[in-house]
Amino acid sequence: MVAGEFVRVASVEDVPPGRLLGVEVGGRRICLANVDGEVYAFQDNCTHRDFPLSAGELEGGALTCAWHGARFDVPSGRVLALPAIRPLKIYEVRVEGSDIYVAAQR
Ligand code: FES
Repeated sequence: MVAGEFVRVASVEDVPPGRLLGVEVGGRRICLANVDGEVYAFQDNCTHRDFPLSAGELEGGALTCAWHGARFDVPSGRVLALPAIRPLKIYEVRVEGSDIYVAAQR
């Protein structure tokens, strides 16, 4: 797999608006989030502890981690609430037809 190459990870139907989905790209766990019809991709482990963010809750563009309640702004990856202090790593997303592609980066 080449860095920056887009890999198909899911169908748009798999991540309806307001939902999260954990996928794997090149051995890396990535979380997809559908915010009002726009799909975003970011690391599927909280920056506080290693816990899957895909198990969290999405409300508008804000994602709450299910373990200790840290909140992140999905489009930017910015931290909205402690205990997390580091932002999320964001991946580039492309939607073609009903297919969702994520840029496989190192
Ligand atoms: S692991 Fe996410 S807030 Fe602690």
